[in-house]
Amino acid sequence: MGLVRAAAPHPNPLTAVRGEGALALRKVASPMKFFADTADVKDIADLATLGLLDGVTTNPTLIAKSGRDFKEVIKEICGLVEGPVSAECASTDYDTMLAEGRKLAKIADNVCVKVPLTWDGLRVCKALSSDGTPVNVTLCFNANQALLAAKAGAAFISPFIGRLDDTGIDGMELIREIRQIYDNYYFDTEILAASIRSVNHVKDAALAGADVMTAPPNVIRDLVKHPLTDKGLVAFVADWAKTGQKI
Ligand code: E4P
Repeated sequence: MGLVRAAAPHPNPLTAVRGEGALALRKVASPMKFFADTADVKDIADLATLGLLDGVTTNPTLIAKSGRDFKEVIKEICGLVEGPVSAECASTDYDTMLAEGRKLAKIADNVCVKVPLTWDGLRVCKALSSDGTPVNVTLCFNANQALLAAKAGAAFISPFIGRLDDTGIDGMELIREIRQIYDNYYFDTEILAASIRSVNHVKDAALAGADVMTAPPNVIRDLVKHPLTDKGLVAFVADWAKTGQKI
């Protein structure tokens, strides 16, 4: 009599379905997420009222810009959004970075520890991810780096679109390459399009299949804008007034 194996449970439905079906399922299961790329709590609170904010990313530059105490501001942001709030380690060596990551993870349940794409950062990513702490691997500028981050168990990989564009390299092509590689191997790591500078970056990241985009608050606010929407609304309001009706 042959061995009868119980079907293994699949916490992630994507690992249960392969091929085109898996791709379709990923899209249905995970609509694109919007993160705010800022440490400004006023902006975050304001964007949160729109009901579209799924998380926040910060980095040392944004923390410096806020002029606030790092751990204090991260705690406050974590109370404003339910989703992941990326808090970046400041050190670059494995031991200190790991200790910093563990401290940051204790600030709130929704802290996501951010580490740079270096061997030390990847080792920290592996250690924290194995302990159940989500990690965002940042400063990603090529597809091999993204492959390493996925293998290290990263929850998010942050390819920097704008900074690549600044050097004359098409940043969005990197998103497309990572999407292909992650889909080839069913990696769970989410592609977090970072260093977004314009509304077109957001659209192109969505077309390229990024799981998440993080953008400065002004870019998120600009997403709704179109002159024909404004013009059309002025006309509708005026014509409605002519009817003398109320709803
Ligand atoms: C987010 O995680 C990144 O740190 C951020 O998007 C970098 O953006 P910048 O290139 O505009 O500084």
